[in-house]
Amino acid sequence: MFVTGLLSYAAYNPDLSPVNDQTPDKGILGFYLFSWPTHPYWLYRLLQGVHVTLGVVLIPILLAKLWSVVPKLFSWPPVRSVSHALERLSVLLLVGGVLFEFITGILNIQLHYIFPGSFYTLHFYGAWVFIGAFVVHIAFRIPTMVRALRSRRMRTELRTPLERTEPEPADDTGLVSPRPAPPTMSRRGALGMVGLGSATLLVVTAGQSIGGPLRRVALLAPHGGPNPGSGPGGFQINKTAADVGIQARDIGPDWRLTVRAGNRQIVLTRAQVLALPQHGASLPIACVEGWSTDNQDWSGVRLADLAALVGLHTSPPGVAVESVQRGGAFRSTVLRDNQVRDSRSLLALRVNGADLTPDHGYPARIIVPANPGVHNTKWVTRLTFGGTL
Ligand code: HEM
Repeated sequence: MFVTGLLSYAAYNPDLSPVNDQTPDKGILGFYLFSWPTHPYWLYRLLQGVHVTLGVVLIPILLAKLWSVVPKLFSWPPVRSVSHALERLSVLLLVGGVLFEFITGILNIQLHYIFPGSFYTLHFYGAWVFIGAFVVHIAFRIPTMVRALRSRRMRTELRTPLERTEPEPADDTGLVSPRPAPPTMSRRGALGMVGLGSATLLVVTAGQSIGGPLRRVALLAPHGGPNPGSGPGGFQINKTAADVGIQARDIGPDWRLTVRAGNRQIVLTRAQVLALPQHGASLPIACVEGWSTDNQDWSGVRLADLAALVGLHTSPPGVAVESVQRGGAFRSTVLRDNQVRDSRSLLALRVNGADLTPDHGYPARIIVPANPGVHNTKWVTRLTFGGTL
């Protein structure tokens, strides 16, 4: 979860406004920030699909783990010595951190934005708290873990029914009951229940990321479930034009595309953009919330060709992209030079053989391989090569 999360953060381009990385002098802790590649085109789809699907599938395992150690929560006296106090503090950060990450992550993918601040910042710093405590915990617990795993053979446990289930022998961990009641469930039953819970969650979640027939049973996916509608624009939408207040006049005949670099500027009508050489790219939209569309056949003008229109014929720089959208987040973004130079990076005008629908970003939208969906800005009206926001 930590690795895929950090990579997602790198893909997000934390140097961007308005979601800047605000960690001052992060030094070596910024080791994972690099120019996010455009190859393979499905990289972000895979990455965020794994982060979110794994997160959901781990819920029963996390709950079972917490259940198995819950007596520790009530151990008395709460603090026995300085080293015990430090150990308990690390466990507080560990359990608090993991619960915080799971709760914020799940609220986010269920589009329940009730955070007292930006999810992005909270979840990011929560991840560092969790991983710090996790490393300390593992370092202290490795010997116990190895001993416990060696004490029983998994295969034997899986063959042991309820009637032959024995309590743990007494030890000094504080987790074994001194007077155990007769078992109501075998170990294999407990493992099976957790496994079945995880497998069920996998079935009702994974389809939002991998598509295909599983999409039909992606019951927990607010966006990534069965295809909405039919026809060329019949694929998932995060925010509709109405959701973000796009008015008919913003994207009507008066719409213009401004392309700038330094003091050069050209303004084009949609017909003029359509008259430029059109290229195709088969790419998915992959959302930060883990859902993605199957590949769609986009066509439009290469970003590199638009750069050439304002004099940048070789090695174009990054581009600042602005939408007609007035309010709300993600009405603008900056794409890096490697993204602009990829021949599949388009200002798309059409998808699956038809004009974009207003909800998919008509008159024109960005589509860049392996780019988080929020950076494939819709309803684009201005491109500034070499510009910032
Ligand atoms: C220990 C568990 C977890 C860790 C260490 C972790 C770590 C991270 C990190 C470092 C990021 C990138 C920074 C950010 O965008 O805030 C991230 C993003 C994200 N995580 Fe997690 N995460 C965990 C659990 C979860 C769970 C359980 C879910 C939901 C099922 C989830 C959903 C997300 C989403 C949707 C994003 C992208 C959000 C955005 O960029 O808008 N995470 N995670």
